[in-house]
Amino acid sequence: MTASTIVGVIGSGAMGAGIAQVAAAAGHKVVLYDSNPTALEKAKNNLTATLAKLEEKGKIPSAKAILDRMTFAERVNAFADCGLVIEAIVEKLDIKQAVMAKVESVVDKACVLASNTSSLSITSIAAACTVPSRVIGLHFFNPAPLMALVEVIPALQTDPELVLQATALMRTWGKTPVVAKDTPGFIVNRVARPFYGEAIRIYEEGLADMATIDHAMTTYGGFRMGPFTLMDHIGHDVNYVVTETVFQSFYFDPRYKPSFSQKRLLEAGWLGKKTGRGFYDHTAGAEMPTA
Ligand code: NAI
Repeated sequence: MTASTIVGVIGSGAMGAGIAQVAAAAGHKVVLYDSNPTALEKAKNNLTATLAKLEEKGKIPSAKAILDRMTFAERVNAFADCGLVIEAIVEKLDIKQAVMAKVESVVDKACVLASNTSSLSITSIAAACTVPSRVIGLHFFNPAPLMALVEVIPALQTDPELVLQATALMRTWGKTPVVAKDTPGFIVNRVARPFYGEAIRIYEEGLADMATIDHAMTTYGGFRMGPFTLMDHIGHDVNYVVTETVFQSFYFDPRYKPSFSQKRLLEAGWLGKKTGRGFYDHTAGAEMPTA
């Protein structure tokens, strides 16, 4: 993979749009695809606004140059010339496997297929592909343009040479890659489970309210965001599902047990910042607890 590699990104949500921005800013031509035209349009508008702001602040020389390298596609066929396709869709194994198989039917045999999954087995995703040796995990953090860390996760079937190539590529994108084994939640999302889980348990036990826990963790704990603010930022559809996957994948180890408080948010469609409401009410501009 080189600077001339065309990068495809599947899913134009929070992560996909961010990854597309990073790749285009690093000089690649990028094809951003989403099965939902409304989400694609939203991503295009957001990226246009974000890049314009970055240019205004002098952080990038030309928003237009980056946008000109990006194509917004409603069909998988648009990936035909890609040398790398990164999947950032809903965190469900069967859907990711189906999408990867579909992509494989349009790309060249040499095209690398990467997944941005937070917690699912890269080995299982690779197993659904006809060329599993070209599948790898590239796990970015939210927001992808700002967060330097990328976990590079080889599946059991991944060509070892690809790990070196992917790590080198991430460096050219200004990222700090770390190679992680293919275990549930990899490094960060496994370490982070008790951070979220204990915060919710402290709240559920009535020991402190959410704002107090967040305040304690930012002011004294040194974290940039408290656990409740961070979960609202990530989105409960993603965060809860990751906890559930890690819990189940570790054979129901109680250390990773999901919580009903968060499950109820998910059931209500209170997914956090993206829907205006999660643990906090984001609609009025104020960060107010809703529970
Ligand atoms: P999101 O909900 O913001 O975006 C997902 C996008 O994928 C949506 O636009 C949706 O229309 C599209 N999509 C869903 N199914 C599709 C399909 N079959 N084909 C094409 N497009 C499809 O989700 P988000 O937050 O961007 O997460 C995406 C992935 O990244 C998940 O695997 C998640 O675990 C992972 N991730 C999320 C992080 C976060 O903080 N939100 C951080 C790191 C990884």
